[in-house]
Amino acid sequence: MDNSTVCRIEHVTSHYTTEDDTQKLVLDDISLDIRRGEFLAVLGRNGSGKSTLAKHLNAILLPSGGKVWVDGMDTTDEELLFEIRRRVGMVFQNPDNQLVSSVVEDDIAFGPENLGVSREEIRARVDEALEAVGLTEYKDRSPHMLSGGQKQRVAIAGIIAMRPDVVVLDEPTAMLDPKGRDEVMETMMLLNKGIHMTVVLITHFMEEAIMADRVCVLSDGKLALSGSPASVFSEEETLQKLGLTLPPAAAIAQGLRKEGYPIPKDCLTMDALAKAICPYLKEGFPCSH
Ligand SMILES: Nc1ncnc2c1ncn2[C@@H]1O[C@H](COP(=O)(O)OP(=O)(O)OP(=O)(O)O)[C@@H](O)[C@H]1O
Ligand SMILES: [Mg+2]
Repeated sequence: MDNSTVCRIEHVTSHYTTEDDTQKLVLDDISLDIRRGEFLAVLGRNGSGKSTLAKHLNAILLPSGGKVWVDGMDTTDEELLFEIRRRVGMVFQNPDNQLVSSVVEDDIAFGPENLGVSREEIRARVDEALEAVGLTEYKDRSPHMLSGGQKQRVAIAGIIAMRPDVVVLDEPTAMLDPKGRDEVMETMMLLNKGIHMTVVLITHFMEEAIMADRVCVLSDGKLALSGSPASVFSEEETLQKLGLTLPPAAAIAQGLRKEGYPIPKDCLTMDALAKAICPYLKEGFPCSH
């Protein structure tokens, strides 16, 4: 595994034992390399295996078959567990379940404290993490007085302060209002583009997935689609079969194309759509309309 791959998922299968003692296959021969510094979005309908896959990335779950490697470390090696968990930080859906302290900066310090980091180093990391998520002014507040989006940014700061190689976020915006979602997405973009953190984002929001470098779609525990947002969202029929919708701008673009308007397939954002439509507003569309 060369240094550009931070996590390697190699022919991974995973089973759950159900109440009646039968084995249920949840991940079915998944192979996927996560590249250092990339922003990967993972999509798939409910129960397709997204959270199960995420939990394999820091050894919360171990594969029934195949291997997961983090920075070349086999996740089944118990002696490496601490090191693997330090390198892959997880952020979950509910910010309230992830906050442990009554003061924002203490909350962020909790992770590095548990890693045995020195006092001065913790101070530096907390300040840096607060700045990275834009919450420096809130450092003395109680996290419970913050908005959902701000709480989730505190949770993200707590992970950054542990200096992981990868941050895996499992539907971090699902419980937030649109403003909170925007805040968290902006923070994720800053982490990825600003400090080159590898980000794996599991989401149900297509408009979040279009911000990623690469999109993977899971279906019944299999990797059904993988590629750039533009290529994945051009597979309209396949996506429909997989129970996914198009991002809002792409859905409008598709509707216009069906009516004969020549809107390119890579129109995924409202900005791109506006740019595609603008030239025709003056001259009219080059079709029967
Ligand atoms: N602890 C468990 N015991 C038994 N089955 C489980 C357990 N956790 C998950 N499953 C099953 O594994 C499958 C995949 O679950 P998983 O949570 O990975 O899906 P998901 O894609 O994250 O779904 P969602 O979008 O609802 O979060 C589902 O069929 C689920 O019922
Ligand atoms: Mg899930």
